Amino acid sequence: MRHFTSLKDIENLDVILQQAIQIKNQPLQNVEIGKHKTLVMLFFNSSLRTRLSTEKAAHNLGMHVSILNVNEAWQLEFEDGSVMDAGASEHIKEAARVISQYADVIAVRAFPSLKDRQKDEAEHVLNSFVKYATVPIINMESATGHPLQALADAITISEHKPIHQPKVVLSWAPHPKALPQSVPNSFVEMMQKMEVDFRITHPKGYELNPKITKHTPVYYNQDEALQNADFVYVKNWSTYEPYGQNLSQDRAWTMTKAKLGDAKFMHCLPVRRNLIATDEVLDHQNALVIQQSNNRTYAAQAILTDILKNLKP
Ligand code: CP
Repeated sequence: MRHFTSLKDIENLDVILQQAIQIKNQPLQNVEIGKHKTLVMLFFNSSLRTRLSTEKAAHNLGMHVSILNVNEAWQLEFEDGSVMDAGASEHIKEAARVISQYADVIAVRAFPSLKDRQKDEAEHVLNSFVKYATVPIINMESATGHPLQALADAITISEHKPIHQPKVVLSWAPHPKALPQSVPNSFVEMMQKMEVDFRITHPKGYELNPKITKHTPVYYNQDEALQNADFVYVKNWSTYEPYGQNLSQDRAWTMTKAKLGDAKFMHCLPVRRNLIATDEVLDHQNALVIQQSNNRTYAAQAILTDILKNLKP
């Protein structure tokens, strides 16, 4: 692949999952492939896992890593033709080309505004880097997707799945802030590619983008959706229509051990305890959240390996 901006960039999911598992068994098998190459990681938003796991993945491939918290640098302008007489000091046209001189690969984290759906869906930050940078771009969570997280989640499900086709449920949970739809969007897209029995449960009004959910069954009754589940992925997201609202704080949707039964519990982290899920759920051996975060390294390493193999000399 040239860029990794969404799951659509994965040509063959089974192959990349196998590669990620091989990398996990032998993380330093390709330690020369990134020698004298630099990964520049640009953060417009906070991160713990994405930053450290992607940095570790790059180091496992012999790469140098430079990290920039973009909000501590010059404020960027993204509009074409704008008169830059307000806050922004530097245009993406220069910034992306300048950074490309220091990088062989650029990774970008840029959350949505949750104010302007059209702009968020256009992925104006991520796609501006794709447009103006001269090196490959990796999505470290954008306005509408978090494909590295979804790949790590797919690895985790592959490792822990029972013999039969597993039943996977994505369940909404309450949160005090309006959060992006990026993680659930990518998880839905990933589950649609995998051999799983998948369904979504959320309160009425929390329907995700129908172009993403397509024919995936949606249940408004959480108990009904959770019956016989093997994996339950719990996540908050804000409304898609009206866009970016936090309309419900209903604690009845908090995941409890009684509701979960023997299912494995998944969450991308960070997680708010006793709001998204109870301590009992998170402290139980069926919680896979630490394993998911470990698999972030191998997901990132599989993607970086593919990109490095396809770098123009
Ligand atoms: N899951 C995830 O992307 O974590 P961070 O926001 O800490 O990177």
